Amino acid sequence: MFVEKTDPQIARLIKKETKRHQETLNLIASENYPSKAVREALSSIFVAKYAEGRPYKRYYGGQEFIDKLEVLVEERVRKVFKLNPKKWTVNVQPYSGSPANYAVLRGLLKTGDKILSLPLSHGGHLTHGAPVSLSGQDFKVVNYFLNKEGFLDYGEIEKLAKKEKPKLIICGFSAYPRKIDFKKFSQIAKKVGAYLLTDTSHITGLIIGKVHPTPFPWADVVMTTTHKTLRGPRGAIIICKKELEEKIFKKVFPGLQGGPHEHTICAIGVALKEAMSAQFKKYASQIIKNAKILAEELEKYGFNLISGGTDNHLLLVDLTNKNITGKEAQILLEKAGIVTNKNTIPYDPRPAFDPSGIRLGTPAVTTRGMKEKEMKKIAFWINEVISNPKSIPKIKQEVKKLCKKFPIP
Ligand SMILES: Cc1ncc(COP(=O)(O)O)c(C=O)c1O
Repeated sequence: MFVEKTDPQIARLIKKETKRHQETLNLIASENYPSKAVREALSSIFVAKYAEGRPYKRYYGGQEFIDKLEVLVEERVRKVFKLNPKKWTVNVQPYSGSPANYAVLRGLLKTGDKILSLPLSHGGHLTHGAPVSLSGQDFKVVNYFLNKEGFLDYGEIEKLAKKEKPKLIICGFSAYPRKIDFKKFSQIAKKVGAYLLTDTSHITGLIIGKVHPTPFPWADVVMTTTHKTLRGPRGAIIICKKELEEKIFKKVFPGLQGGPHEHTICAIGVALKEAMSAQFKKYASQIIKNAKILAEELEKYGFNLISGGTDNHLLLVDLTNKNITGKEAQILLEKAGIVTNKNTIPYDPRPAFDPSGIRLGTPAVTTRGMKEKEMKKIAFWINEVISNPKSIPKIKQEVKKLCKKFPIP
């Protein structure tokens, strides 16, 4: 590394973070390991360029290759989702998922308009109208909730939509372990004359891999981050119906952003090409196989899962019957080299900073090549750590040994 010579202090932190990843199991559902090719593109010379504006409509000179790049990446987005360019338009410039969601809301709504969404405490995202987020401060937010079993209840959502008449409905979540019926959401939105924003950030890799239903043609706008199951760099994409382009894209730039991060856009392009491969399809279906077996094994050890299992890449574990909080479990597991995040469960009686659950995801370990056999081991270790914390030092060594066999790409 060049940085070793120029900046040993930062180089040491990079090395330590690399080692931490190499020696631990990353079960954080929103994280993943992009390929070397994606990381190389991310550090390319495209980092040097200012390119405010849209392709072929820029403010500065020197855009010959930037324009070609951005148009190519937009085309790849349409190709990977098989979108008709007459109907759908793409913007790959948003810095990340949060500003992208905000740009969509500010583009389609007036401040004070009503949105209908799932709250953070039930698995929605902060930017879907949480009170602490600008999305919750600029708009009137009404929430739908999961039922007591932990599933979306489309009948209840429809009733609420008819009563509240929101201008926009959001679906697509951060901690929902089941499939989403985008068609049903679209029918509800149509009945009340609302826009439908589907935030597929978590599941875009699964959608492309054809192991989760697609939001097309049901959504008016699809927003996705690019760094979760899609396995690209940190960034976001907005895809919307042609007639909404003017309203939304103007909020991305100049409404919210300056120069787009073209090096990120370059790396998104590389990730999209990878996502079109047969190998990616295998990876996507393995993510789900791994999540399902992890769920089954944990249930054998007496863990309660919200909704009783999973259809996607994540599980939400209710730890109430294990006499441990989410925060305590996260800390213990991390001591054993198993990295997770504490998470609220629907109707959680506990506060968000020390909730009743943990969220577990399989994308990152699947990228490392782990399969069903390894998931069984991981479930065994999770149970051991939580039921017998004295076993932590021994398990930490075993985790390290397993990690060595599955290097990060
Ligand atoms: C569903 C969903 N939308 C949006 C975001 C925000 O993305 P970012 O962290 O890139 O701003 C996340 C991130 O976790 C998410 O889970």
